[in-house]
Amino acid sequence: AASMARLDVTETFHNIAFPGHLHTQESLHYAVNFQFQDTDTLIVSYPKSGTTWMQQILTLLYSQGDETVSRTVPNWARAPWLEQYYFPKVLEMLKEPRIITTHLPYHLLAPVLEGSKAKVIYVARNPKDVAVSFYHFHKMANFLPDPKSFEEFLEHFLEGTVNYGSWFDHVKGWTSSGRNNLNFLYITYEEMWEDLEGSLEKISTFLHRPLMLGDMQKIQKHCTFTSMSKNPMVNYTTVDKEIMDHSKGQFMRKGKVGDWKSTFTPEQNQRFENIFSSKMKNSHLKFTWYI
Ligand code: A3P
Repeated sequence: AASMARLDVTETFHNIAFPGHLHTQESLHYAVNFQFQDTDTLIVSYPKSGTTWMQQILTLLYSQGDETVSRTVPNWARAPWLEQYYFPKVLEMLKEPRIITTHLPYHLLAPVLEGSKAKVIYVARNPKDVAVSFYHFHKMANFLPDPKSFEEFLEHFLEGTVNYGSWFDHVKGWTSSGRNNLNFLYITYEEMWEDLEGSLEKISTFLHRPLMLGDMQKIQKHCTFTSMSKNPMVNYTTVDKEIMDHSKGQFMRKGKVGDWKSTFTPEQNQRFENIFSSKMKNSHLKFTWYI
């Protein structure tokens, strides 16, 4: 297995600098020049923050709780990645209103998004749980380097030398003042976890898609961790073993808030806290670390 090489976040691939090896220049150019439509909804997240969950929620909101699409179309086909250009024109082929997904940082998309009325939903998750989830994902996702120990992975995570770069930069970028120019909703994994119904109300209001009587129960039923874990259209069990090896760990792993506590040592926690307070000192964001 490939070892966790240190990625240089300032490394420039031709002309779009992006931390990681997962996207070609062609894909990145496609993404940063993408023509958004006013009816588009873009899901934005740092990896392991609840992206798939939001893809499922939006699909069901758009179908008013009808489960057909969520049972028959894989999440990456109904809410395709902006930065994965290997299904040519898949985004152009989607029916309106389109749901599009991205992990790209704000500065790369700001120029195309700021001029559009597309809706942007940013899903954030407390970064201790993100680090643990990302660590386990590295073990089963064969396109990512072997994370070795959690200790070693955590260092890369804190330094921002993992794919998609620094969590701190990602969340700060997308919540910076520039987002005032966007049609923007910020929501957290923990909020959805604690109050799925309230979160669905909030999202449906933002999308101007009022929930009809009975929709709420239908949507909720298909968005729970238990239901999604069993649904092959969102649990990634249909992808090749060469891409994700489910014998090494599940994509739908635990779905908990505060699971980091069973992984972090007190020293790791202290180090994390120190770095978090210094990097986030100018941020108004508050995170829920456990429930
Ligand atoms: P864990 O590894 O902590 O279990 P992403 O889709 O951004 O890659 O995020 C994956 C994480 O979201 C995984 O976290 C996964 O279990 C969790 N997740 C997915 N659907 C969920 C749901 N309905 N409820 C709670 N957690 C969910």
